[in-house]
Amino acid sequence: MTAESGELLRARVSVDYEGRGAVLRDLDLRVAPGEIVGLAGQSGSGKSTLALALMGLLDPRRAAVRGAIHFRGRDLLTLPEREFRSLRGKEIAFVLQSALASLNPAMRIGAQLREAWEVHRGRGGDWKAEAGAALEAVSLPRDDAFFRRFPKDLSVGMAQRVLIAMAVLHRPALLIADEPTSALDVITQAEILKLFRGLNAAYGTAVLFITHDLPSAASLCHRIAVLHEGRIVETAAAPEIFERPRHPYTKRLIEALPRWEPAPA
Ligand SMILES: Nc1ncnc2c1ncn2[C@@H]1O[C@H](COP(=O)(O)OP(=O)(O)OP(=O)(O)O)[C@@H](O)[C@H]1O
Ligand SMILES: [Mg+2]
Repeated sequence: MTAESGELLRARVSVDYEGRGAVLRDLDLRVAPGEIVGLAGQSGSGKSTLALALMGLLDPRRAAVRGAIHFRGRDLLTLPEREFRSLRGKEIAFVLQSALASLNPAMRIGAQLREAWEVHRGRGGDWKAEAGAALEAVSLPRDDAFFRRFPKDLSVGMAQRVLIAMAVLHRPALLIADEPTSALDVITQAEILKLFRGLNAAYGTAVLFITHDLPSAASLCHRIAVLHEGRIVETAAAPEIFERPRHPYTKRLIEALPRWEPAPA
């Protein structure tokens, strides 16, 4: 199997966890270069399992992964770990929901950005200029005072921005974001979505936006794939999903969305 031209990522995977059975079943997902794809599904549908499988981070003793994950024409499932390490965080980057937990509480922000730079670029190069550009891209200050801050000195929204800055430091071709806004209030959520849109436009970064929140996926993504019990039941352009949902599960998801109604007088 090879990736078709025009595809950045094509994943065809099944994952079984030991003692749990099939979690992803013949899942088939494509992401084109520069495309923002939403993966929407309820809790337990297998979203994080897919993210971990794409990043090669599932523990092989606990999870059996079958199929092929082609990224820029190479099958990640057969890639030696050493080669995967040079790709992970550089060509494919990852942002998680729990921003504060993903930062090292004992390290200053500058030191963490420097480490993220040096993992792939070594000691050479102007890490500070690159880190500054990444901070600017996520609308954070790039001065020394900010570099000297610790994670505890940041709001959750700022911490999430720092993680996104780290993720785009190497201008990845693909950014996988697993529920990056679920822990945030709605205003901060909207700001982060705007940021993804901006990074996509500025750097051409493709984004796989994983969420249980169909409306935020619709506001950000070009296409949405609906995941249900480990299978993608429907993929469509964002407005289509709302206007003409085809699969009964997608219809149920849309019907379950809260509607604003005035409180009774
Ligand atoms: N390491 C594991 N071993 C066994 N089962 C697991 C493991 N990790 C996840 N599962 C199970 O696999 C299923 C899918 O989990 P996953 O975390 O991928 O779902 P999710 O869609 O990300 O959910 P959420 O929205 O709550 O984050 C769940 O039933 C979960 O309990
Ligand atoms: Mg999850």
